[in-house]
Amino acid sequence: MLGSHRYRLVAPVYDAVSLERPFYQRGRRRAVDLLSLAPGHVVVDLGCGTGLSFPFLQAHIGPSGTIVGIDTSEAMLAQARRRAQRAGWDNVRLVNAPASRLDAALADARVSPGGVDALLAVYALSVIDHYPETWDQIRQSLPPGTRMAIADLSLGPHPALQPLWRLLCALGGSDPNRRPWQPLEDHTHDLRRQDYLAGHIVVTAATLDPRPPARQTP
Ligand SMILES: C[S@@+](CC[C@H](N)C(=O)[O-])C[C@H]1O[C@@H](n2cnc3c(N)ncnc32)[C@H](O)[C@@H]1O
Repeated sequence: MLGSHRYRLVAPVYDAVSLERPFYQRGRRRAVDLLSLAPGHVVVDLGCGTGLSFPFLQAHIGPSGTIVGIDTSEAMLAQARRRAQRAGWDNVRLVNAPASRLDAALADARVSPGGVDALLAVYALSVIDHYPETWDQIRQSLPPGTRMAIADLSLGPHPALQPLWRLLCALGGSDPNRRPWQPLEDHTHDLRRQDYLAGHIVVTAATLDPRPPARQTP
């Protein structure tokens, strides 16, 4: 798979080359803030990569909370594991699984879906395969009331800037036309949204609605 291959090569230098400080950290920080986390909360970081969001999550959940980091790239997870070891966090569980198998990943992490307080996806939903299945899994696996925050990429409304945003998305393997925050508008309440870098970064957070009742067969 091209995605895994790309991240295997880039994992050792990802933190240095991903324009985190100048461009992308602001979206990550805002997404974490909008999760309304509290000490002891359990948060899933979907497509966690090298764990760049972990320090911001830890600041809210503390040692009594839990981070479940899910990613398909063992090389990226190895960097995340190293980050957790270096910081002395023993509340991070890392699972090599596709986002579209969220239920199995949570079982692997020994976390009950009903115990998840929040889900974070930072610059990940525009990259992953099986994107519609992933949304189905999120809806089916996580209980109503789960807080979700997505930070992801778009070309924004300004034609003069779009070639730059298109290039950066291509380098990261992300589809700038996917708009993965849109399903939040349909299945959630308490929606908050903030754009950065002239609309290139879109941060959206909301609370999952109850699932519609299963249709009865006569
Ligand atoms: C652009 S990186 C973002 C990583 C991290 N969230 C961050 O903000 O730095 C996208 C991540 O998604 C992971 N990924 C790609 N396809 C995936 C899938 N189907 N399920 C879970 N993770 C996936 C990649 O391995 C990579 O670590």
